[in-house]
Amino acid sequence: MKKLFAVIGDPIAHSMSPVMHNDLFAIYQINATYLPFRVKADDLEDAVKGLRALGIGGFNVTVPHKQRIIPYLDEVDELAQAIGAVNTVVNANGKLIGYNTDGPGFLTGLASIFPTVEGKKILIIGAGGAARAIYFTLAKEKPCAIDITNRTVDKAKDLIEACPYTTKSNAYSLIEADTLIREYDLIVQTTSIGMAPHDVEQPLKFTALKDGTTVCDIIYNPLKTTFLERAQTHGATIQNGIDMFVYQGALAFEKWTGIAPDVNRMRENVLKQLGGTTC
Ligand code: ATR
Repeated sequence: MKKLFAVIGDPIAHSMSPVMHNDLFAIYQINATYLPFRVKADDLEDAVKGLRALGIGGFNVTVPHKQRIIPYLDEVDELAQAIGAVNTVVNANGKLIGYNTDGPGFLTGLASIFPTVEGKKILIIGAGGAARAIYFTLAKEKPCAIDITNRTVDKAKDLIEACPYTTKSNAYSLIEADTLIREYDLIVQTTSIGMAPHDVEQPLKFTALKDGTTVCDIIYNPLKTTFLERAQTHGATIQNGIDMFVYQGALAFEKWTGIAPDVNRMRENVLKQLGGTTC
């Protein structure tokens, strides 16, 4: 019998996950299908009950349900629990187990251009849900320090206090971070600043970077934000948000099927959906 997989969120129409996962099911000859379901916030509990009753193989969870889904699951792994958000659910013999593959997806994607975080000085821009997943994941990798800069500095402070993994961290305003920018080996932009249609906006106005700095932006539309463009002009190695998206999907697929999928094929597939070329 065909197995069902899904993504739930609201909005969901533009999700690129169905095409990406259905292509993988086809090439690995798995008798399964992956469907998007728009689930309104008030219907989340019923939706999870329904997916459970239908014997769903597994599903992804996206905005606005990543936090609120936790009480409806049977188990949540340690990292997802710490982050307080689940983006991937596995149905293990009737038990719904929640994971967060956003942070690990970022880290795995990063490895191709930045092999180890250990001993490195990192700056995260932003203090929302994406920043939280990335910060907690990187904090486990023995960095030298991870500082957070955010428009609302108190939110950066709260994030640092909430992190269960010991790491050296300071919270900075965007203006302060600009003055310290040459200290960092890795800079990760997690805010929505610079996302289409506001392409020209950027969070920091730096005029120089340390030699060999790597700069990531989790935005993938546009493929090269003004921020990444600027970082590249100042000599940085850059990475856009495609890798994080692809690897969060690859890690979810592996949890569901035991197969580590072809990420290059996934990347091409996502780029085709975006109608763009690689960064
Ligand atoms: P996500 O879950 O995608 O990370 P979020 O939780 O809404 O989204 O967080 C958005 C982040 O982008 C926050 O860090 C936010 O800053 P504030 O905490 O000060 O709100 C940041 N952000 C969004 N728009 C911004 C803007 N125009 N200028 C500066 N920061 C912005």
